[in-house]
Amino acid sequence: LGPYPQTLSSPNSRKISVSIRCQSTKTKEPKTNGNILDNASNLLTNLLSGGSLSSMPIAQGAHGGVYKLAFGPKAFVVISDPIVARHVIRENAFSYDKGVLAEILEPIMGKGLIPADLDTWKLRRRAITPAFHTLYLEAMVKVFSDCSEKMILKSEKLLREKEVSSGEDTIELDLEAEFSSLALDIIGLSVFNYDFGSVTKESPVIKAVYGTLFEAEHRSTFYFPYWKFPPARWIVPRQQKFQSDLKIINDCLDGLIQNAKETRQETDVEKLQQRDYSNLKDASLLRFLVDMRGVDIDDRQLRDDLMTMLIAGHETTAAVLTWAVFLLAQNPAKIRKAQAEIDAVLGEGAPTYESMKKLEYIRLIVVEVLRLFPQPPLLIRRTLKPETLPGGYKGEKEGHKVPKGTDIFISVYNLHRSPYFWDNPHEFEPERFLRTKESNGIEGWAGFDPSRSPGALYPNEIVSDFAFLPFGGGPRKCIGDQFALMESTVALAMLLQKFDVELRGSPESVELVSGATIHAKNGMWCKLKRRSK
Ligand code: HEM
Repeated sequence: LGPYPQTLSSPNSRKISVSIRCQSTKTKEPKTNGNILDNASNLLTNLLSGGSLSSMPIAQGAHGGVYKLAFGPKAFVVISDPIVARHVIRENAFSYDKGVLAEILEPIMGKGLIPADLDTWKLRRRAITPAFHTLYLEAMVKVFSDCSEKMILKSEKLLREKEVSSGEDTIELDLEAEFSSLALDIIGLSVFNYDFGSVTKESPVIKAVYGTLFEAEHRSTFYFPYWKFPPARWIVPRQQKFQSDLKIINDCLDGLIQNAKETRQETDVEKLQQRDYSNLKDASLLRFLVDMRGVDIDDRQLRDDLMTMLIAGHETTAAVLTWAVFLLAQNPAKIRKAQAEIDAVLGEGAPTYESMKKLEYIRLIVVEVLRLFPQPPLLIRRTLKPETLPGGYKGEKEGHKVPKGTDIFISVYNLHRSPYFWDNPHEFEPERFLRTKESNGIEGWAGFDPSRSPGALYPNEIVSDFAFLPFGGGPRKCIGDQFALMESTVALAMLLQKFDVELRGSPESVELVSGATIHAKNGMWCKLKRRSK
């Protein structure tokens, strides 16, 4: 089979790759929602992935790297080509805005980074980026491990109770719900120093956060934006609930902002980045943003920034951990390999910033999960002026002309599962990122080359020349990429350090739904057993 270039080195190796796939279908895919009309986004994701999220031929193969997808009068341009994706999200990034995504999120996130107009975005991105500095990330590893420990302790307690009551040594848990609580606790503490404590309790604020996320999901998948019709907020019960949820969260955030402003200690950015984070009572992003000298931001903007990070950083990480368990549970040998690494690096201890960096295999598991289940599965843009897209990786000189106002979907899902760029594209193989690079023969596409991003924490869009977009790319790339990767690595390592995990039912019984993220329709029910060493 030859050395593994993580891609195809020639048309011949493409044929080999197909035959490997036929022989080995170790990892099963979840089921997509049967009634596609239940969920417009499923319809969309199904179409974008060429008929099914499982092993059906992908649309890229059927329709090419750029094609038009029409729903009645509405049309979208779907991009599944790295060259064209690179043009849209990096080289020509400011010729596009977030289009329909901004329309959906603006009522929730206001002028936060995701939906913000370009001028606001530039100011806020410049202000927020330095807040994710190294000492902050180091301090956050402690938050990740403290919160994960609470989840582990809760599971161990349940297990002990089960052993006492029935003598059984296994508990069943919906790990999607557990990871969701974990990610919420982590984002609350790290972004605004608020302890949701959702792993162990329920509160009106937690319910309001979930209500808001649920509404964002509903809006991203509903057929027409009826909520824009002002009376809807008084007539439609779910819109009334949304308004009241939003008020609960906003009141909570306003209180935290007020508190932070009352204790403000204005300092230069460089000095803020050198604070003794190991002893700080409040190491949150909010503290940093409020204390930053020379930036006077109004409360409304701060609240929008916090809300954006709360939503952007919560479901995404929870989804990655959920699908990590789904894939690992089907690959016990990979669980054992991961546990061997955990034992060697951590022993019985908790991860630190330094030890976390040594958990390379766990990190590659997270990255491979993001390849198979990208969160979000699509990047959304709209042209601000008429555009000519470049020709794709197949070497075409020039691509399509698209008028101003065209909605564009970059199908990260398609790119990540394309047989043109990945051997065994549907297989879960974290090891693929370790194999040596071979030059690839695809004209117009620079291929994989780790030396393009030396020292990177993970194989990224630069290494893959935009065929792999786990956190997007270009100026709108995820601001929390390292944070999220470390968080997922710590949580996964701490779970596997203590438990063996199996799915409760068959992989095919797990139903997949997709909106802003890809998640399991009825939760990810797993069996947890104390690890046999
Ligand atoms: C943007 C993925 C976690 C904050 C993005 C984008 C992707 C992404 C793909 C680019 C969207 C686009 O180009 O349209 C993820 C994944 C995560 C994660 C997979 C977890 C595994 C986080 C966390 C935070 C965060 C933890 C904050 C603490 C943001 C923000 C943006 C963003 C603010 C908008 C950036 C901008 O437009 O300037 N994320 N993200 N994300 N993410 Fe993340």
